[in-house]
Amino acid sequence: MSDRVKTAVLPVAGLGTRVLPGAKTTPKNLLNIVDRPILSYIVEEARAAGIEHFVFIVGRGQGAIEDYFDSNPEIEGTLEAKGKLDILADVRRDLPKPGEMSFIRQMAPLGLGHAVWCARHVVGNQPFAVVLPDMLMMAKPPALAQAVAAYEKVGGNIVVVEAAPEGETNKYGIVALDGREGRLNRMTGMVEKPPLGTEPSNLLISGRYILQPEIFNILETQERGAGGEIQLTDGMFHLMKTQAFHALEYEGTTYDCGDKIGLLRANVAFALARPDLADAARKAITELL
Ligand code: G1P
Repeated sequence: MSDRVKTAVLPVAGLGTRVLPGAKTTPKNLLNIVDRPILSYIVEEARAAGIEHFVFIVGRGQGAIEDYFDSNPEIEGTLEAKGKLDILADVRRDLPKPGEMSFIRQMAPLGLGHAVWCARHVVGNQPFAVVLPDMLMMAKPPALAQAVAAYEKVGGNIVVVEAAPEGETNKYGIVALDGREGRLNRMTGMVEKPPLGTEPSNLLISGRYILQPEIFNILETQERGAGGEIQLTDGMFHLMKTQAFHALEYEGTTYDCGDKIGLLRANVAFALARPDLADAARKAITELL
């Protein structure tokens, strides 16, 4: 029986280049989808998968993320005094229990592999999840819960994947499989941002992982890869020499919120999925069309 996955690492330090200038003073993962920041959905997804400890890897100028997950007596007091208890409940919903969240500063943008490595002392010697908040997923059960269920079945390391849009395999990590039967398959390889025409499959790495702690020793000496960055994909490929990796084709829809149109699609999709807003949202969208 594998150890239960209790800790999630959330690398949020990216500059949000594709959604600038919006992400200049607001960290990109605090941009709103309808009326909640992206990270609110991400934390909800991780809690539903049994995560008890969130380790954020933040960059300079991202203090707003810590503030978002702290109480705000002025806002809460005002809402309470005005009797706006439904909004107060929404404001408090994301607040952590004491000690539930840790924040680590990544001092230079050296890549995703380096960001995950920064969490080594806090995670310690246990399996853990990595959740890339840019990739917002609408799924039932939530995507990370699907990954944890797969992990409880086969152990080792799990990489959540999905079919890449035509001609876009060069923008992502891509996996190679040992045969494709059902949604959970043993992996034989993976490559970060392969040039078009060289991709080993059409399955992109979606941004939800369950990893064993041995990855940290590998990341410590991992050389720079695609884009001159220390890549998590390269570290995992190395770990695959000694440990099993399975790719899980999760059931659901991914919205890449690091991208303008992805952010727009997420706003539309999440508004249409909200019972209290669906009718008004549909009307507004239809009028615009
Ligand atoms: C990262 C990962 C990549 C993954 C992608 C998903 O790339 O390195 O394997 O497919 O996230 O969004 P990035 O988007 O940071 O270039």
